[in-house]
Amino acid sequence: MRILVIHGPNLNLLGKREPEIYGVVTLDDINKQLSALAVELGVEVSFFQSNHEGELVQKIQDAMGTFQAIIINPGAYTHTSVALRDAISSTGIPTIETHLSNIYRREEFRKHSYISGVAVGQIAGFGPDSYLLALRAACEVATHGRKK
Ligand code: DQA
Repeated sequence: MRILVIHGPNLNLLGKREPEIYGVVTLDDINKQLSALAVELGVEVSFFQSNHEGELVQKIQDAMGTFQAIIINPGAYTHTSVALRDAISSTGIPTIETHLSNIYRREEFRKHSYISGVAVGQIAGFGPDSYLLALRAACEVATHGRKK
């Protein structure tokens, strides 16, 4: 089973970026933790980060036929991107939306996600553990399908 982890804009700066909100763990550290958990769960994970909306859309499209689930932290595109939403719904690949911070405890504009309506579910607010929980959820969904 192959799972694609997509990190959106500015997540390459994790560790340096607003540590009071996002912590000091780097993106590389998160990917390493995910790789270790993937071994434990017996799945394959691949990683992609981009600051460009079109590249993220392309990666989601290219995942068709190769990946059984997607974990995506769309960063700020969560709150703006109909294109990312459409890419996810067009491919039909089960997708778990993930955020380090609890977007519902922050500014008003972060409380709306264009992605959540097409995601299987959302995990937010657990820092790097959000990704690890998302990987467990993605495995479950890819193996047993979506829960009704
Ligand atoms: C984020 C939350 C978004 O609102 C923000 O734009 C990000 C990171 C998170 O992981 O908490 O870039 O997706």
